[in-house]
Amino acid sequence: MTKITFPENLKWGAATASYQIEGGAEEGGRSLSIWDVFSRTPGNVKNGDTGDHACNSYHLYKEDVQLLKNLGVDLYRFSISWSRVLPDGTGELNEEGVQYYSNLIDELIANDIEPMITLYHWDLPQVLQEKGGWESRETAHAFLHYAQKMFEAYGDRVNNWITMNEPWCASFLSNYLGVHAPGKQDLQAGVDVAHNLMVAHGLAVKSFRDMIPEGKIGYAPNIGWLEPYSPSEEDRAACRRSMMWQKEWFMDPVFKGTYPDTLVKLFEKENAYLHIEDGDMDLISQPIDFMGINFYTGAIGRYKEGEGLFDVEEIAPDERRTDIGWPIYAEGFYKALTDLRDTYGDVPIYITENGACYNHEVEEDGRVRDQERIDYLKQHLTSLDRAIKAGVPIEGYIVWSLMDNFEWAEGYEKRFGVVHIDFDTFERTPKDSYYWYADTVKNHEFER
Ligand code: NOJ
Repeated sequence: MTKITFPENLKWGAATASYQIEGGAEEGGRSLSIWDVFSRTPGNVKNGDTGDHACNSYHLYKEDVQLLKNLGVDLYRFSISWSRVLPDGTGELNEEGVQYYSNLIDELIANDIEPMITLYHWDLPQVLQEKGGWESRETAHAFLHYAQKMFEAYGDRVNNWITMNEPWCASFLSNYLGVHAPGKQDLQAGVDVAHNLMVAHGLAVKSFRDMIPEGKIGYAPNIGWLEPYSPSEEDRAACRRSMMWQKEWFMDPVFKGTYPDTLVKLFEKENAYLHIEDGDMDLISQPIDFMGINFYTGAIGRYKEGEGLFDVEEIAPDERRTDIGWPIYAEGFYKALTDLRDTYGDVPIYITENGACYNHEVEEDGRVRDQERIDYLKQHLTSLDRAIKAGVPIEGYIVWSLMDNFEWAEGYEKRFGVVHIDFDTFERTPKDSYYWYADTVKNHEFER
């Protein structure tokens, strides 16, 4: 048995997102978001599931905080539903909505848990979608208004902020691949949304510096890792191009003030063009305090002609996949983290999400034996430890997710929580992985 030991000052956390857990879709003055409309449209989400009730955290947040407390985490990363606090998308605050998060924040602080707020975790108010959504630059300005209202409301108690969660998903997956709300299939829309999200990020960071000078702000892009199948130039270039779509496309603008030329040209060949206005790149590349990294999967990448825009076939190393079908590639986590440091320098990193989908149910004795999730976490934390030892400045590790929840287009069938949810009764049952994670957090180490 080898012990893996983490630095005492590494912060541990658990994460969720508003639409995935809250429910209360039409309570307390909340207006609809693009995800309400998308999920209520037949055919978009597996089994016709919607986030109408989700985990009912709108009512049960105190129970959630107790689960966090017993888990022993330092941080809780959650997101705000924009349409709950600003039902018109812009304009006046809905006090009832503001109060909900205020109560949650107070409850966290009373239990010694630091709040980390994600401003945008994909649930754009539908009223803004009807005015063009993220394809319109106006939405970036609406986002600034929303962000400022949130800084005003919670800046006295909340230090850690994230502007955007997984901008690749909110742009290309949602507007080009059509898998997430609003479900478009248009590359130009994907490119426009991606840029406007980054403009919105820049606007919010700029304002944050004046409003919460002592606070910390970052964003949370998702990345994976593709290891070339062979040393051939074809395989290596195909892997690089494909990774660039999630990594460089969303990181070069922030850390270098440019977009990767290879992709700009690739998109232009498909008649999709970047529309950059004067001053945009300076705005987007303002210094941030940390980069959030969401990492789940990686694969062996092999060049394959005709595989769509990115001509790469992904092969699962050892054929191992989680229950959502994603290959498990913990070595890729280490490679991705060291590569980030080599590319962008010593930017402090929070792992804002890492976790696995396994659909274990509660057994007769009341236990949820999710050993596979524990194994996944052990493998990824081993890679994290190696990255820390290699000098990557890791500030914290946040598991996805505190509890099973609405897994977007996959609905409730796909479970990522360390706490099991019964979606009929909303009963919460900590899984074996919850107790294992609690031990790891407490001791700053685990046995492999
Ligand atoms: C990334 C997203 O941020 C989160 O909302 C989602 O549930 C997990 N990945 C798992 O797919």
